[in-house]
Amino acid sequence: MRSYAKSIALYEQARRHLAGGVSSNVRYASVPVPLFFVRGEGARLHDVDGNVHIDYVLGNGPAILGHAPKPVIEAVAASLAEGQVFAAQNPREQELSARLCRLLPGAEVVRFATSGTEAVLMAMRLARAFTGRTKVLKFEGHYHGWSDQAFISTRPSLNEAGPADAPIPVAGSPGMPPSVLGDTVVCGWNDLDQLRATFERHRGQIAGLIMEPVMVNGGAIAPLPGYLEGVRDLCSEHGTLFICDEVITGFRIGLRGAQGKFGVTADLSIYAKAVAAGFPLAMVSGRRDVMDTLLDKGVMHGGTYNGNVQSMAAALAALDVLEADGGAIYARMEARGTRLMDGLAALAAKHRLPIRVQGMPAIFQTFFTSGAAPRNYRDSAACDRDAMLALHAALQEEGVRVQQAGKWFLSTAHDDAVIDETLAASDRAMAAVARA
Ligand SMILES: Cc1ncc(COP(=O)(O)O)c(C=O)c1O
Repeated sequence: MRSYAKSIALYEQARRHLAGGVSSNVRYASVPVPLFFVRGEGARLHDVDGNVHIDYVLGNGPAILGHAPKPVIEAVAASLAEGQVFAAQNPREQELSARLCRLLPGAEVVRFATSGTEAVLMAMRLARAFTGRTKVLKFEGHYHGWSDQAFISTRPSLNEAGPADAPIPVAGSPGMPPSVLGDTVVCGWNDLDQLRATFERHRGQIAGLIMEPVMVNGGAIAPLPGYLEGVRDLCSEHGTLFICDEVITGFRIGLRGAQGKFGVTADLSIYAKAVAAGFPLAMVSGRRDVMDTLLDKGVMHGGTYNGNVQSMAAALAALDVLEADGGAIYARMEARGTRLMDGLAALAAKHRLPIRVQGMPAIFQTFFTSGAAPRNYRDSAACDRDAMLALHAALQEEGVRVQQAGKWFLSTAHDDAVIDETLAASDRAMAAVARA
């Protein structure tokens, strides 16, 4: 058995001075305690107890080039002596924004922020200011950060969430003002008829529709064929801005994100995480007429660390790698991810475990279900989470770190040898789960 004695002792100490012993609530989701890591290197993390983990959590997405990627940390190191924050512009912001506008679908202009949560807030405010409407439509199971305006019906209990064809907005946390629920319309995902009816019920009131184009947080579920196109059409028909939250999909499922993959263009898009390969950077990109309201109408957006020198340097260096040879790195990542997904599915069959492996090669989920492929939040909520927790623990024991819900993120550092090692470890882990 792996020992976590040092992590357990450190966590006990941390709880004395650090609220809850962690800096983000999602980090509670770890056994036996939130673990302490001392080093990340490529596809691997080293914890304080000396355990080595093949890491498929990757900071929940940013580490697309693996941990401590050389070109990025060298570029950041070279920038350190220049300073960090100027409360003014630095030339790298100009260079990066121009590159991003050349690359990303619908990006006529961009504005940088520091976290995805803030960028979502900016996009929602822009939509309200531009349309003069107050309501924002979001989808059940989709996560757009932890703000009062967005942390609604992300993982609602089905006792509170209302009927599947007309969900009720559910606050995700104590302390959120009930008034935000009145400005939020919640809809089931991957169901165009339901969306059409929802638009009719709130005709002329919806400023923006925000969605994860692939429902990653609710289960790495792809949009059904034609769904994103239908959403695009309904938004245009109703004068609602389509806000595509590519915080996870951006720079992960392809160089041009989900919009590039599925051929749909939103009015506003949000990117973060992989864009700076581990350094804090988020952004809103999109239509010039909408983004211009920042200046023309004085729509407020601020942030002390926005556009800081190191995040700009990191993103430029990351883009150099990601864009090389027309994004050839994505084809390689896709091939390895496909091999891993197929390998896991074959192992599940071998051990007679009802595991479904679903998603994109660079971000997928293992569900315990004998039913059909989950298509939305309610389907994924019906899967056996306890069985997934058991697999998570067994994988950790074999040196493979995945999210407890069964999410696997891939990086370019997960080469063929790492995939082979992972499959061998997963074979042992699944055997242990099957025995239990
Ligand atoms: C789709 C999506 N949007 C927004 C966010 C919030 O980003 P951040 O954690 O940087 O605030 C996340 C974070 O996981 C996310 O997955």
